[in-house]
Amino acid sequence: MYCIRKVTNDLLWIGGNDRQTPKFEAAHPVPRGMSYNSYLLLDEKTVLFDTVDRAVQTQFFENLEQALHGRKLDYVFVHHMEPDHAATLGDLMIRYPEARIVCNGKSVNMIRQFHCADPNHAILVNEGDTISTGRHTFTFANAPMVHWPEVMVSYDSTDKILFSADAFGTFGALNGVLFADELDFDRDWLDEARRYYTNIVGKYGPQVAALLKKAAGLDIQMICPLHGPVWRKDLGYILDKYSKWAAYEPEEQGVLIAFASIYGGTETAAAILACRLSELGIRTEMYDVSVTHYSYVLSDCFKYSHIVFASPTFNNGIFDPMEHLLRDLLHHNLQNRKVALIQNGSWAPASGKLMTQVLCEMKNMELLQEPITLKSALAPGQEKELEELAQVLAASVKGEASTPVQEPAADKPKGFVCKICGFIYESDTLPPDFVCPICRRPASDFEPVT
Ligand code: FEO
Repeated sequence: MYCIRKVTNDLLWIGGNDRQTPKFEAAHPVPRGMSYNSYLLLDEKTVLFDTVDRAVQTQFFENLEQALHGRKLDYVFVHHMEPDHAATLGDLMIRYPEARIVCNGKSVNMIRQFHCADPNHAILVNEGDTISTGRHTFTFANAPMVHWPEVMVSYDSTDKILFSADAFGTFGALNGVLFADELDFDRDWLDEARRYYTNIVGKYGPQVAALLKKAAGLDIQMICPLHGPVWRKDLGYILDKYSKWAAYEPEEQGVLIAFASIYGGTETAAAILACRLSELGIRTEMYDVSVTHYSYVLSDCFKYSHIVFASPTFNNGIFDPMEHLLRDLLHHNLQNRKVALIQNGSWAPASGKLMTQVLCEMKNMELLQEPITLKSALAPGQEKELEELAQVLAASVKGEASTPVQEPAADKPKGFVCKICGFIYESDTLPPDFVCPICRRPASDFEPVT
């Protein structure tokens, strides 16, 4: 049975929704499913705009056959070769061998690499090229790295529609709705749209900005992405979100507390900090990164202006889930945030220094103060340090910051670390007869903390 929705008088949505595969790209949980959009234009020539993921191929081919209603398929525009859109291109070309693939040169190479079809008869298009299908004329524009290098978009200058590939997509299945104005996008979909953007193309902000610049020169009345709802009203809303995300600008002034905790000491400190911030009227969100999938935490790191990372020391390093999160933020180019740190270590706290080192690899991450150090749990009276940190964060969120700003790189030696077990002897000098209280190694096995 077919499941089709009309987009315009001669454009149909013929994609599919996958509500069973638990993770998109084998990485990101999609508890609300995933849509794979494909569109069919019924002009003098027929045009298919991308195929779909294998997970929904049965529905897609039934939709396509119904939508064509006996007509031949003339063109298939390949905007993006990632298999969530091109895995069924080979099957399509077996079923509709007369169709001509329209793509750019980079896609031809990928069609060969994925062995999905014979690209020898493809119509190659470059930036600014046009194809007329009768009433409609399409212009092509490259959008490299939004999200792969071969990505291109096409613009229908007749109906003012941008076929935007991955751009403006979201996680989530389309449960009968097709248009963003048929649902409460801001309330029910924005979080998943942000999580999709940040995890899938968040690394490529400058390239997204380049696409937005090209789009700004066009009269766009509708955006048809390859995932999620179609935009035909209030386009400024989603364009504004993309503009912020691409520039790594926070959407909201507030504090995200990302913590990891093994026996609860770090969690207690994080929870007390959250209480003090809330009492100061600061919008605060917190995640246990050992429990919450990193894709959600990364998404909120893009959302909020301030982030507190709180982590135990583990095997002389950062506790694994926190290290994974920090590396993921680095790889997604997160930048322009104000941060604070809480480190924990029962005998040799080192996670503060190590988290600082990762933050130093990111652009424009500003440490508001020295890390707070816990030794197993909050010591008596240490709540005062959390209260002071809350005040520093609140002042910064409100733009009242008068605290001295410390660059992450300005970490000074504070003692000597045992190269064997990581114990830190906190002093300016190390006695020559010193013996490590943990592993009993001599002073010669120590080195200055850097
Ligand atoms: Fe939806 Fe980059 O694929």
